Amino acid sequence: MAKATMYFPPDFKWGCATAAHQVEGGNDKNDWWAWEQGPGHIRGGQKSGKAADWWGKGFEKDMDFAAQMHNNAHRLSVEWSRIEPQEGRWDDAALDRYRDMLKSMHGRNIEPMITLHHFTNPVWVAERGGWETPSTVPLFERFTVKVVEALKDLCDFWITINEPNVYSILGYMRNVDAHDPATPQGTFPPGKDDLKLALAVVDNMLLGHAAAYHAIHRLQEQARVGLAHHMRLFDPFRPGSLLDRWVAGNRDRIFNQVVIDAMLHGKIGRPIGLARRVRLLRNTADFIGLNYYTREYTRFDRSRADTAMFGSAVPNPQAEMSDGNYGEIYPRGLFRVLKRLGSTGKPIYITENGLPDADDDQRPCFLITHLRQVWHAINQSIPVMGYYHWSLVDNFEWAEGWDLRFGLVELDVETQERRLRRSGELYGEICQSNKIDTDLVQRYAPEMVETLFPG
Ligand code: BGC
Repeated sequence: MAKATMYFPPDFKWGCATAAHQVEGGNDKNDWWAWEQGPGHIRGGQKSGKAADWWGKGFEKDMDFAAQMHNNAHRLSVEWSRIEPQEGRWDDAALDRYRDMLKSMHGRNIEPMITLHHFTNPVWVAERGGWETPSTVPLFERFTVKVVEALKDLCDFWITINEPNVYSILGYMRNVDAHDPATPQGTFPPGKDDLKLALAVVDNMLLGHAAAYHAIHRLQEQARVGLAHHMRLFDPFRPGSLLDRWVAGNRDRIFNQVVIDAMLHGKIGRPIGLARRVRLLRNTADFIGLNYYTREYTRFDRSRADTAMFGSAVPNPQAEMSDGNYGEIYPRGLFRVLKRLGSTGKPIYITENGLPDADDDQRPCFLITHLRQVWHAINQSIPVMGYYHWSLVDNFEWAEGWDLRFGLVELDVETQERRLRRSGELYGEICQSNKIDTDLVQRYAPEMVETLFPG
């Protein structure tokens, strides 16, 4: 074993990420709340309820944990349905509450990054067709203007939209593997199964992103604006099979590449039909926000001539899986996607990375091995500027309800009691010292020492 140290750059952003509906609680004005009331939508009929009570006392408690972990950054989202509960009716008290939250983050030296759309829509927006219709784009732009005008003295770091690809697939393509009863992910509202609509939703969200990007820059010169893009690895199950490679390649293009081509080159309307170029969408990323979780092995499957486009995800028998078969733990995949994004020349923030692990027996090793890949990428001159772990505290995991626990802080939803997990202590040491060394790995994940620091 060699004694060695992996150093991170001096101004590196260390934080966690959260989303409003998953932590705030008690908001019945959005489409997710409505969806939760429907039978069979959420595992075991669970509900978001009070969530982590961020609209009450929970926010301050969790920010204390973030400060205790020496986080210097945090990604949170604002809830459109609180700020504009009815069309054109603005709730200034909600904006004031967000102002207070941002101030209390600054008071702890935690720099906020705000997401404007993280999966939820006001009920009135959903009733008008949500992202199925381009008429949502100007509504989202108007909402963006309202938020930026109200909060711009407290934040200049923005994510327009979280994961258009995931939003569209989970809400509009019920037949893909992610929705099989055997896999952990359920469906999102509106629970449709329509490829054409799925594609329209992605396009409209990308147009919404572009409109928000320009609106923010009009209001705030120094703003840094991006989109949080979920990327997965799609590897052929049988690398020698042309058909497996073909379906894996298709999935990669549809899931990973479409959004990149849109933000950088203004291309939309693919993969079905001709691409069109939208001038306003070109170069609408001051940075790329990367959400990375896992990889999928993909196999050609004749029986899936539906929205799965002849592909099936096959479990990798060798892989270590996280709770509930959420996904393979594949740290190298983070380096692979960073390398790919590095070729865009844009700064990269890892805006989400994490795993469900209720008993915290995998998370310490997960953190160390994934951060090692980040370090490796930085050493290859890939401009990775920050890492936001998903998530700070256990939160409402959408269709999985409370079964999957992603927090560095463990939450008892009933009593609202919290406890820092051991992985939270580890993350705190990394954020404070800005490095990972042999001693730290020895204490938190001794089984990794020989692999990470061979003699
Ligand atoms: C989403 C989060 C979600 C996380 C874990 C991401 O795709 O942005 O809202 O909780 O995955 O599943």
